[in-house]
Amino acid sequence: MAARRRDLREQLAGVLGTKHEFVWELGCGHGHFLTAYAHAHPKDLCIGIDLASDRVSRAIRKRNRASLGNLYFLQAEARLFLENLPSKSAFNRLFILFPDPWPKLRHHKNRIINADFLAAAARNATEGARLYFRTDHESYFLSALTVISTHRDWSLVDEPWGFEHPTVFQSRASKYQSLVAAAAGPRP
Ligand SMILES: C[S@@+](CC[C@H](N)C(=O)[O-])C[C@H]1O[C@@H](n2cnc3c(N)ncnc32)[C@H](O)[C@@H]1O
Repeated sequence: MAARRRDLREQLAGVLGTKHEFVWELGCGHGHFLTAYAHAHPKDLCIGIDLASDRVSRAIRKRNRASLGNLYFLQAEARLFLENLPSKSAFNRLFILFPDPWPKLRHHKNRIINADFLAAAARNATEGARLYFRTDHESYFLSALTVISTHRDWSLVDEPWGFEHPTVFQSRASKYQSLVAAAAGPRP
């Protein structure tokens, strides 16, 4: 684990260089969404992460084919990623698209949208950073609405979706729901 952390820290320092702000996609899968996003926003540094190394490899091939210098994909777990970010780095947009829904009640604790994760994310977010969450799982959507609307570090905002481009899971879904939230910013 120490080696993994060191490795991730080195990768992140290399990717971020002298830049501090970035757009983050958590659970990027094969990278369709963030590749389109990075293409449309050439000035934004975009970082996609996923636990599954085969998905990340496919995403990296997609990035290389598109020759996008502002786009990076890393194999990383979300909390480990946050813990190993360089100190001044912060995301200004976070996309969480069709995350694993963990449908069984006893597995709900594994859902990425939970109070602890939201607090950790907020510590690494710019003031007013946006969180974009989309799922086709009704019960996950409702629980995310509840946990975000009662969280001290985030508030729901009524504004348009940040960028439209279908992910693999989105293209398979007959319907889905989305929410946008804003980070409160650093606390005294
Ligand atoms: C259901 S898939 C959705 C993939 C893609 N967002 C889409 O919409 O097609 C969820 C992805 O999140 C990744 N994932 C799950 N938990 C994660 C975590 N804690 N950190 C990073 N990636 C995670 C999984 O490996 C998987 O690729």
